[in-house]
Amino acid sequence: MNTILTILFLVGSVSSSILFWRRTPTFFHANGTLYCGMYKPWCFHVSMFETDYPFGDDRIDFFGTRCTSNAYYPYDIKGIQTGDGLWNEDYELTMYVSHNCTRGGDIRRIERVTKNVPLSDHHVNIVWNVNVADLGEFVDYYA
Ligand SMILES: *[C@@H]1O[C@H](CO)[C@@H](O)[C@H](O)[C@H]1NC(C)=O
Ligand SMILES: *[C@@H]1O[C@H](CO)[C@@H](O)[C@H](O)[C@H]1NC(C)=O
Repeated sequence: MNTILTILFLVGSVSSSILFWRRTPTFFHANGTLYCGMYKPWCFHVSMFETDYPFGDDRIDFFGTRCTSNAYYPYDIKGIQTGDGLWNEDYELTMYVSHNCTRGGDIRRIERVTKNVPLSDHHVNIVWNVNVADLGEFVDYYA
């Protein structure tokens, strides 16, 4: 059993290195403006992950944590990925905004799953503007 697993693992590693080697990188860019009209100051953190990465989620980039008393705050994140998990044909991207623009000041996290992006796309631009006030699941920290 162990031998079979080892062989499968080796075959998988070799094949995926060949796939990685062949692929050209994809550039990711996401930006937008966060809005918090009701509470101040407030803090936030924006992040973008590739969520089907074989060894756990792969964070592409993040912005923050920043705190501001302005109602509007622009963010901009970018990153590069080369290839994906073993046999996947696309990137699965998820963006998060965690913030404490909330009534009690607790941290909440808003999730946005973007469309799957084919590996053959070389440039991906995402625009996400969010009015964050009191939105999202409660979380313990900015991430
Ligand atoms: C987002 O990026 C685009 C293209 O680079 C730019 O035109 C736009 O002004 C940016 N928006 C924000 C809110 O930064
Ligand atoms: C958010 O957290 C910061 C830092 O802890 C705090 O100063 C601010 O008052 C909090 N904002 C709200 C709306 O509770």
